[in-house]
Amino acid sequence: MTVKLKSLEARVRFATRGIDTLNGMLQSGSLSVIWSLLEIQDYLKVNGNIAEIGVHQGKLFLLLCHWMNLGEIAHAIDIFGRPIGSDTKNIDKLIGNLEQFGIPKEQYRVEISDSTQLSCGALRNLFRGPNIRLFSVDGDHSREAVLHDLEIAEAVLSPEGVIIADDLFNVWFPNVTEAVYDFFRDPAAKDLVPIAFISANGPVESGAAKLLIGRAQMASRYKAGLKLLNQEDLKHCDPFAGHPDVPHFYFANVPQKRTLDETMMKILDDVYADLD
Ligand SMILES: C[S@@+](CC[C@H](N)C(=O)[O-])C[C@H]1O[C@@H](n2cnc3c(N)ncnc32)[C@H](O)[C@@H]1O
Repeated sequence: MTVKLKSLEARVRFATRGIDTLNGMLQSGSLSVIWSLLEIQDYLKVNGNIAEIGVHQGKLFLLLCHWMNLGEIAHAIDIFGRPIGSDTKNIDKLIGNLEQFGIPKEQYRVEISDSTQLSCGALRNLFRGPNIRLFSVDGDHSREAVLHDLEIAEAVLSPEGVIIADDLFNVWFPNVTEAVYDFFRDPAAKDLVPIAFISANGPVESGAAKLLIGRAQMASRYKAGLKLLNQEDLKHCDPFAGHPDVPHFYFANVPQKRTLDETMMKILDDVYADLD
């Protein structure tokens, strides 16, 4: 049986208040949809570890940590400046934030390295297998680096895992969008498909749009769950990069996420029964 690291009250407190005290790039629309994604993984009983490339001071990383189950590991990979590790202010801040919010040392690892130098095999060894259920890719934003990071993320992703690709359609970083298009055209994408777009809903300094990517066999489950829980913010569903029916979440106002409570679970049970 899985046991959550944090109580429901502590998770909600962090997602509604604690996270606002942290520096970093995560807008309220992304927070809302990723929160639903975390709830859906709990509902689906998806276990595994968590990873992020490009952690900065841990704003998104700590959100993912709050939804860990006991025994899971959260891997933080960041270059922290050049020479590697020279940016000690952000390393100290990350560790301080993890301590302040009570993430136990045995449940996270901080890897100070340049992700572009990590091979698929090296990452598999580091993580002890393809066991990552959530992998945020938010490091070097050059085309080559994004393609590389998506490829190594795929290599360690579990069958039910989801990649959170950051900074799509951000005019500051057009190379990220180019890389994501190219990724889906490349065999390196393997069986990965786009699951949902989360549009930006704040100034560019506070983040940008994200794309959720998952394995084809899980896509309809994640899409259905995200559409149900974020239906007020669902703009439309369109094909993208050759894949059909990708939901776009757009936030005209404050995000209107619904909680995955018993009523929603019953609806999801029915929706999923129809998918089987
Ligand atoms: C936009 S910030 C990440 C924001 C973070 N995800 C958050 O929740 O606030 C980008 C991060 O990527 C890291 N980075 C840049 N190039 C990298 C590389 N080659 N390998 C690993 N990390 C890298 C930077 O040090 C920086 O902390």
